[in-house]
Amino acid sequence: MSDDFAIDVQGMTKRFGSLTAVDHVDLAVRAGEICGFLGPNGSGKTTFIRMLCGLLRAEEGRGTCLGYDVIRASETIKQHVGYMTQRFSFWEDLSIAENLDFVARMYFVKERRRAVRETLERLGLAERRNQLAGQLSGGWKQRLALAACMIHQPKLLLLDEPTAGVDPKARREFWEEIHRLAAQGLTFLIATHYMDEAERCHRLAFILRGRLLAQGSVADVVGQARLTTWSVAGPDLLTLAARLQRDPAVEQAVAFGNLLHVSGPDAAALERALAPFHTPPYKWRQVESGLEDVFIHFMSRAEGESS
Ligand SMILES: Nc1ncnc2c1ncn2[C@@H]1O[C@H](COP(=O)(O)OP(=O)(O)OP(=O)(O)O)[C@@H](O)[C@H]1O
Ligand SMILES: [Mg+2]
Repeated sequence: MSDDFAIDVQGMTKRFGSLTAVDHVDLAVRAGEICGFLGPNGSGKTTFIRMLCGLLRAEEGRGTCLGYDVIRASETIKQHVGYMTQRFSFWEDLSIAENLDFVARMYFVKERRRAVRETLERLGLAERRNQLAGQLSGGWKQRLALAACMIHQPKLLLLDEPTAGVDPKARREFWEEIHRLAAQGLTFLIATHYMDEAERCHRLAFILRGRLLAQGSVADVVGQARLTTWSVAGPDLLTLAARLQRDPAVEQAVAFGNLLHVSGPDAAALERALAPFHTPPYKWRQVESGLEDVFIHFMSRAEGESS
């Protein structure tokens, strides 16, 4: 294995009875990278994350996490990985500092007081150290949760939908923090449903029904989808959308503000489908497919395959 990779695993598989929740997933993330982990509800993100940090036993798979064998060295991996669960919780009637002190005890952190102080400073929580966790706004709660999973100085952070339900400003600040930490050499795998967050990642992995469908930079993933998208302006776009959707070449016709985005995987067939509407008052323009178009494309392709 190369030292450059914080995560380098192949064929990771987890079954629950007859359900294959994670199906032979390969993932490689370099140290210092932020990898976004995308996929609809129930696609296997949490299960994969829990296998990586040794909380769930993989049925199949091999490779390394921080250089340790992902199957055999799971106890060691646990000590070097920070895991922010999808539904984290605190002691609401303890302060920020007391919560961190509690977590530090659980991890048997050496020089606990110093670790708490440094973590408070590192995450900009020092001034609020005495505030009760239960009284924090959503954004500060996320920050406390991040601090709690960093108290033992992990090199790899696995964050499971860390900003669900947080307002856009707080999400932006949270992501600035993540980028600062990545620049210091920390590696992140972050499950998210937000496309704006996905676009802030160095690389993406897209999983659906347990299978990895695409992996790479945002541009790579968009390119792999081979989707053609047109935007159209004009009157009564909802009626137009309904008419266009009857054509099998049109995979999606979705409103984006005052425009309609029309996409399909077959560029020529799509153009034929749109040709009858290339008349005034409609104004058409071919645009780059966005991550959201691509996300919906992957999902509808999978639905087509299973029906
Ligand atoms: N302990 C379990 N026992 C049985 N089935 C499970 C268990 N944990 C997860 N599953 C199933 O495995 C599949 C993947 O679930 P998982 O929680 O990993 O998805 P997810 O991508 O994290 O979804 P979400 O976006 O909703 O958090 C789902 O069908 C889920 O019902
Ligand atoms: Mg989940």
